[in-house]
Amino acid sequence: MNSVLNLPGMTVKSTELLNIKDYLGEKRKLVDELLSRYIPSASEEPRTLHAAMRYSVMAGGKRIRPILALATYEQFRPDSSETDSSIGYIMAGLEMIHTYSLIHDDLPCMDDDDLRRGQPTCHKKFGIATAVLAGDALHDIAFDLMARSGHTEIVRELAQAIGTMGMIGGQIADVEAEGREVSKAEIIKIHSCKTGSLIRCSVRVGAILAGAERSTFESLSQYGEKIGLAFQIIDDILDVEGSQELLGKKVGADNIKGKATYPGVVGLEQAKKDADLLIDEAIELLDDYDDNMLKHIALFIGQRES
Ligand code: IPE
Ligand code: IPE
Ligand code: MG
Ligand code: MG
Ligand code: MG
Repeated sequence: MNSVLNLPGMTVKSTELLNIKDYLGEKRKLVDELLSRYIPSASEEPRTLHAAMRYSVMAGGKRIRPILALATYEQFRPDSSETDSSIGYIMAGLEMIHTYSLIHDDLPCMDDDDLRRGQPTCHKKFGIATAVLAGDALHDIAFDLMARSGHTEIVRELAQAIGTMGMIGGQIADVEAEGREVSKAEIIKIHSCKTGSLIRCSVRVGAILAGAERSTFESLSQYGEKIGLAFQIIDDILDVEGSQELLGKKVGADNIKGKATYPGVVGLEQAKKDADLLIDEAIELLDDYDDNMLKHIALFIGQRES
């Protein structure tokens, strides 16, 4: 099957791909093309704001959330063209929400980071006010795009995933946990909310758009939950022993800031074991579907170095 969006150069068929890195590279290009299409040009007023939005969004990143939505969608609707533009709107929207969360996460009042995606953070380059507003504006475009998918359920799914019971709830818990001891249950809750929630949502919206059956939807949700938690555990591990060059962000920052981290609670070796177990459990949930991209994406997340 061709990529559902049929953009120039998007001809590699998912089923023919042996290498997950090739698949991700191909889909990343597709995501970049969509993002560039839906964010106004920096020559349009308000120029500084559009420039700041494009600066952070187009700096790259793994694009794992939109790719998860696409891979889930393609799992069930490999030949569909009916809703092609809808999956594109959803993919771009998910990445804009993620980038907004990174811009705000890096602010001096939050994690106070200077480097993101291999370049100065948005507020370092454009100032704090512009960075706050660039994040807000990405959030707004994302919801406009979600609404254009034509599915109220998808709009609500995202709103709930990133709200006070999801990503934002996790972010406030993360800030409030700084400098104090947390339990294992607490760190799991923080990580599942601040990061797991949007990752799980990415899988769920792909499944909703594809019209997946209820029982399948539940398994996929659990898959999303497990890889989402593993994703943040690995983010914490990489902050301890990863490479700044590969990550494009400073390492060792969590320790300096007294952040509550998963390895901080259970130790580095146990954190690695727990992340591996979560990836294995996520893959087991997919057993009905034989060999598929979601399995390979889970494995990629488990082994990532960036
Ligand atoms: C970083 O997310 C922040 C977390 C939620 C852990 P990613 O590791 O997906 O960052 P990019 O998008 O690839 O830059
Ligand atoms: C970020 O978690 C979570 C969100 C942005 C929602 P981190 O603070 O650990 O992410 P990095 O390490 O700055 O990318
Ligand atoms: Mg943070
Ligand atoms: Mg941070
Ligand atoms: Mg981190």
